[in-house]
Amino acid sequence: MPLLDRLLRKNPIKLLLGSFGLLDDTQLHVQFGKRKFEERLGQTEHLDQKAGDAKSPIDFLDRFLRAHRIEGRITETQAFSLAQSNINAGSDTTAISLRAIFYYLLKNPRAYDALMTEINEAERNNAFVDVETGLVTWTEAQNLCYLDATIMEALRIHPAVGLCLERVVPPEGATICGKSIPGNIIVGCNPWVINFDKDTFGADAQVFRPERWLEANPDQLALMKKYLFTFGAGSHACIGKNISMLEMYKVVPAVLRRFSVRQTYTRVKSFCLHFAATVEACRTRARVEMREFLVRYAARPACFFRTAISPAQLSHQRVSNHVVIRCSGRVEGRGP
Ligand code: HEM
Repeated sequence: MPLLDRLLRKNPIKLLLGSFGLLDDTQLHVQFGKRKFEERLGQTEHLDQKAGDAKSPIDFLDRFLRAHRIEGRITETQAFSLAQSNINAGSDTTAISLRAIFYYLLKNPRAYDALMTEINEAERNNAFVDVETGLVTWTEAQNLCYLDATIMEALRIHPAVGLCLERVVPPEGATICGKSIPGNIIVGCNPWVINFDKDTFGADAQVFRPERWLEANPDQLALMKKYLFTFGAGSHACIGKNISMLEMYKVVPAVLRRFSVRQTYTRVKSFCLHFAATVEACRTRARVEMREFLVRYAARPACFFRTAISPAQLSHQRVSNHVVIRCSGRVEGRGP
């Protein structure tokens, strides 16, 4: 809807006010990034010292600031936007997708049980090399078909980027879906529309059902993979897709090998949201009700591991509306 886009997101008055610093319409993660960036800007004299200090390793922000302040290769704005891309593109998207995978697994105990059956069977068949800590290699994860179907389905039903992925029509114009579009116009599709297309994903496209990826015939499967729009498409499709897939395919089975996770209850909480590019319950402009999602996790019996995690080693901490699970110290005990 170009008119609404111009009115809401690209409103020239809003943009003008923003450029004079009279209106701060930046998203939460940008404000966070800005704060961190400004904190470090005042500390750049330590960059040389830090380079030789093994105790305080150099991070991305140090490198961007060095390229700006010491080497003069990039401007401050470029350094900031590189750091911002790391949060937004490189980290937030994968975190959102991981949360979506666990959320849908917990909301669908049948899918959770099917995945656990697959993981347990792999354990019994000694398919995992690591029986010490429970980590899973990429190759091992590739052999878990239900895991594959679960991740694909969660990525489909909750694409982390909920924006219209825009492209500019070439000056000579183009014909798109049989419609003639004039040149220099911005067109685009939103993954939240494409991923729910019933012709591609089936009549029950609104439902989380990993089995659709296992039941589809080869032609249908090829179509589903081709049109899954979570990582965009074409020449500007996500360049971090493979890194992200690697992380998710390894993390999900590794967590589930060691912990059983169950949803306990949901509590409805009312709070104010603002629109955010990445699809998370972080900010939109309406007052909404959000269900606080609480989970119970427990170390799984150590029947497959040489080492077990004792409940005393587990702790959790609430951070905003996320729960961080920590496993402290060395794992102890011995299973058969
Ligand atoms: C689940 C995780 C991720 C999702 C869902 C995701 C999604 C997307 C989407 C939808 C686009 C726009 C594609 C288009 O316009 O057609 C994009 C672009 C991009 N992504 Fe990701 N991304 C993820 C992870 C990552 C990671 C881990 C990195 C970096 C390590 C990354 C770096 C980028 C970059 C640099 C672009 C711009 C590409 C270009 O314009 O040519 N992404 N991503």
